[in-house]
Amino acid sequence: MKKILITGGAGFIGSHVVRLFVTKYPNYQIINLDKLTYAGNLNNLKDIEKKSNYTFVKGDITDAGFINELFNLHTFDGVVHLAAESHVDRSISNPLEFVMTNVIGTVNLLNAAKTSWLTPSPLGRAGEGAHRFYHVSTDEVYGTLGETGMFTETTAYDPHSPYSASKASSDHFVRAYHDTYGLNAVISNCSNNYGSHHFPEKLIPLSIHNIKNNKAIPIYGKGENVRDWLWVEDHARAIDTIYHQAKTGTTYNIGGHNEWTNIDLIQVLCKIMDKKLNREEGESAKLITFVKDRAGHDLRYAIDSSKLQKELGWVPSLQFEEGLEKTVDWYLENEEWLNNVTSGDYLKYYEQQYTKR
Ligand code: NAD
Ligand code: DAU
Repeated sequence: MKKILITGGAGFIGSHVVRLFVTKYPNYQIINLDKLTYAGNLNNLKDIEKKSNYTFVKGDITDAGFINELFNLHTFDGVVHLAAESHVDRSISNPLEFVMTNVIGTVNLLNAAKTSWLTPSPLGRAGEGAHRFYHVSTDEVYGTLGETGMFTETTAYDPHSPYSASKASSDHFVRAYHDTYGLNAVISNCSNNYGSHHFPEKLIPLSIHNIKNNKAIPIYGKGENVRDWLWVEDHARAIDTIYHQAKTGTTYNIGGHNEWTNIDLIQVLCKIMDKKLNREEGESAKLITFVKDRAGHDLRYAIDSSKLQKELGWVPSLQFEEGLEKTVDWYLENEEWLNNVTSGDYLKYYEQQYTKR
């Protein structure tokens, strides 16, 4: 039985990856390691938590001693690393936390994998090549595009926010461990995800939450920034494909060819919400409020995922409007989940954010 460590499995994307691996591979033992920060939530995995091939471990990837012990306790066959601080706005207020988790945390995992998998033994180097380290990264490492062009795997790194700088740094470390020590490493850089279990600090779930509660929908600047949105379950499927099929040392971009300006996206979302909440058409859009722009706000992201499509045969499955409607339905049907994550510290954080504006 293969043992796979998935980090950050209680978060948004991680929970979809854990669910996919646990259900698709009953012969794998999946260990989900998560610190359960504000963004991690075990309710995200209620439906699979009792499966015999699933184990949850609470722990912090910045704690090197703990990570080394975990790798001593289990002989992992592979790691799918998603644990991270992931919100750009929070990185602007607290960059050091992003360096700790995203850079130091990643290097701790790389060191433990190197010791566990590549230390010479009388039988030779334990498992060089056999054990895979998969780093889940972002398109934000490439910086920003103008009105045309797309990010490819060879686009030069040019991060602008503390978040993207920390992810770029962790990508460089993963490549360095491949090039220097022969670690079997792969990286993927994905565009903006949307879908169920998305923490309501990001544009789509925050807007759904605010529309439902008749609160302002904050749009940064003029709403002209462009993001390329991908259904989260398509991202999880791409991770599965790359984990199993990519050659060591390779990188793949993942994206849905689905660019939207923020304002156009929110207009579509408002229409769906009007319909679902039996409001008059145009009612939800009255909540749109233009606020001060994000510092260093990247203008446009667009991913060229043709390498993944041609080499490994992955294609996105859902049209955006269909996915957005499914997402809205999920939030409206899971009021308890939303109420849970929007109580306590969440409220304090948002009160501070709004006072600043
Ligand atoms: P998220 O914020 O929803 O989840 C992050 C998870 O990591 C949480 O469960 C949290 O508890 C855990 N975590 C944080 N710090 C930890 C630590 N020190 N030790 C152990 N666990 C810790 O993030 P997400 O949106 O699901 O993103 C997951 C990964 O995918 C990240 O690496 C992110 O950079 C990347 N990514 C995200 C997107 C997106 O659109 N959300 C797109 C591309 C790439
Ligand atoms: O591109 C991949 C990245 O996508 C991931 O690496 C990040 O982890 C993920 O958070 C996401 O980053 P963004 O900054 O693009 O996502 P966010 O939902 O925060 O913002 C999307 C766009 O909407 C962006 O242009 C900023 C804008 N925005 C965001 C919020 C939260 C608003 O206009 N108002 C808001 O309240």
